[in-house]
Amino acid sequence: MDSQNITSVSQEKRTFSPSAAFKRQANLQTLSKYQRLYSESINTPDKFWAKQANEQLVWRKPFRQVLQWKPPHAKWFVGGKLNVSENCLDHHLGTARENKAALIFEGEPGDVRTITYRQLHFHVCRMAHFMENLGIKAGDRVAIYMPMIPEAVIAMLACARVGAVHTVIFGGFSAEAIKDRINDCHAKLVITADGGWRRGKIIELKANVDKAIAGAPCVHSVMVVKRCGNPVTMVEGRDVWWKEAWEGAPNCHDAKAFDSEHPLFILYTSGSTGKPKGVLHTSAGYLLGAKLSSHYVFDLKENDRYFCSADIGWITGHSYVVYGLLSNGSTVFLYEGAPNHPEPDRFWQMIDRHGLTILYTAPTAIRAFMRWGDNYVLRHRLDSLRLLGSVGEPINPEAWMWYHKMIGKKKCPIVDTWWQTETGSIMVTPLPGFTPTKPGSATLPFFGVKPMVVDSDGNEVPRNSGGKFVITQPWPSMLRTLWGDDERYKKAYYSEFARHPHYYFTGDGARQDKDGYFWIIGRIDDVLNVSGHRIGTVEVESALVSHPAVAEAAAVGRPDELKGQSLVVFVTLKSTAVASEELKEALRAHVGKEIGSLAKPDQVRFAASLPKTRSGKIMRRLLKELATNGEVKGDTTTLDDLSVIATLQTEE
Ligand code: WT7
Repeated sequence: MDSQNITSVSQEKRTFSPSAAFKRQANLQTLSKYQRLYSESINTPDKFWAKQANEQLVWRKPFRQVLQWKPPHAKWFVGGKLNVSENCLDHHLGTARENKAALIFEGEPGDVRTITYRQLHFHVCRMAHFMENLGIKAGDRVAIYMPMIPEAVIAMLACARVGAVHTVIFGGFSAEAIKDRINDCHAKLVITADGGWRRGKIIELKANVDKAIAGAPCVHSVMVVKRCGNPVTMVEGRDVWWKEAWEGAPNCHDAKAFDSEHPLFILYTSGSTGKPKGVLHTSAGYLLGAKLSSHYVFDLKENDRYFCSADIGWITGHSYVVYGLLSNGSTVFLYEGAPNHPEPDRFWQMIDRHGLTILYTAPTAIRAFMRWGDNYVLRHRLDSLRLLGSVGEPINPEAWMWYHKMIGKKKCPIVDTWWQTETGSIMVTPLPGFTPTKPGSATLPFFGVKPMVVDSDGNEVPRNSGGKFVITQPWPSMLRTLWGDDERYKKAYYSEFARHPHYYFTGDGARQDKDGYFWIIGRIDDVLNVSGHRIGTVEVESALVSHPAVAEAAAVGRPDELKGQSLVVFVTLKSTAVASEELKEALRAHVGKEIGSLAKPDQVRFAASLPKTRSGKIMRRLLKELATNGEVKGDTTTLDDLSVIATLQTEE
């Protein structure tokens, strides 16, 4: 899309400032202090980051160079060595934090467990031993497919401890999607559970893993946590119960030190073309980004009890459930299940029950809470909360106001945080002690982040005009490459502007207002944002075309009150197939099987043919208009056959 077409309709004028009481206790209290630190971080990044890295991280061997930048490849803290799990665990032992809760877990059925830093360290050490005995070595890949239970966090930290590279696969993905990811990174070990609870039902995770491994010969071991007690098949010589593995292992584990640039994890995310991209994050820079941003953005205090509702299968769970929070020695609340089980007030009940102080959630969840009704909220006190956060998509001013009044009782600052799987940590955000917020804007850049709104040539556009959103300088927690596909890395992120080969292209459109605040408009590539989840239109189309009845398919997004965008697919059938409601249902189920239920189309529409350009490119723009407005008014001059649109308008 041309940057000229990027427009934002938001006319939001309201601003909100933190209360004097919040400001007084904040980790950073004044705009002038932020401005001083921010300028230093941009103008003398080596000095700024050297200081932060030395203060925030525990090093085994000091680094000799802050940044080696050969665009588009960066190495941060060159020559340094550390262990990420040591930074998250051992570092707190022997201090006042040793017996502090690291995790407070509540399962969907209501079971509660509290795990202190000392205990978490013990569990991670045992698992690290077990993994080493299995033959897992530094650099080996381990797939984690688990519910939101403490063992998922233990598994991630045990990988980090032995230098294994984890790839967490969200529990909502199908066997097919697991198989593709495991094969792409050649994982040797899979860590899973028999099942996980979701709305009172068991999601059969182990069964999905079994199906995936049938097509993934690289896997030689599977570790299984018993969570729900549902029957599973254990394969002799391959599968082992977590508890048995755990019982045989010794309690202490000397963590080895790894290079700053040692790979920490791969996380697959949707791109605009083809299969998911394996975003690679490495050790020191990633950890520093996650730790520093957690401290400032969430204004962390020793007594906070922090709740992020994201699953560890997403980057938010990596940076703001596990690494950023545990490296700060915080208490993290983990919830396994659905927000409306058994009733739509589950979150509010848990906030009161555990005295949670910070809530970080997504606009799609906030919109669902609004729809479920205020009464579910008003039954609870929520007076422990002091700070709210939002992430995943632009938050509508209406949802922002509701969050502010109903949940924050007008006294909690809201941090609307913009970032991506690729950026590793929060990039644009208010700092809650002083930034006046405007509903719908992620406001100002975090330390070390230099964003810009540019036209198609990479030139900065005037204030208040829409354009492409780029980051013009490298930052420590940036992705390093795409696993096994450096060419795609260059193409996807560093090839948008021929004259600025060092500009990172985010894929988003944005606008900067007169106060310098950034307003993110949304994706401008072929990526949809459905309930805060990234879904590539091409992935959905490929899944549809793999069904025997389908000839051709086009997937588009339509604005949706609850999900942000909903997924509409236009499908042409093979001559042998017959259109029917059953087939629509079968196609939805097929996409669910190929990708996961999060990618199931909300609407399937059969078409005699799809609108194309003369060169044969499907014109998704017209389909999007049709799906949204029921008719096409936009420019159709490049359309090959005008009658296609007329027919589509009459078909439903
Ligand atoms: C895309 C990244 C990073 C955590 C969750 C999603 C959109 C994310 C915001 C926000 C406006 C946002 C962007 C971005 N996005 N946060 N606060 N305001 N848009 O991670 O799956 O990598 O998706 O989510 O479009 O590019 P992700």
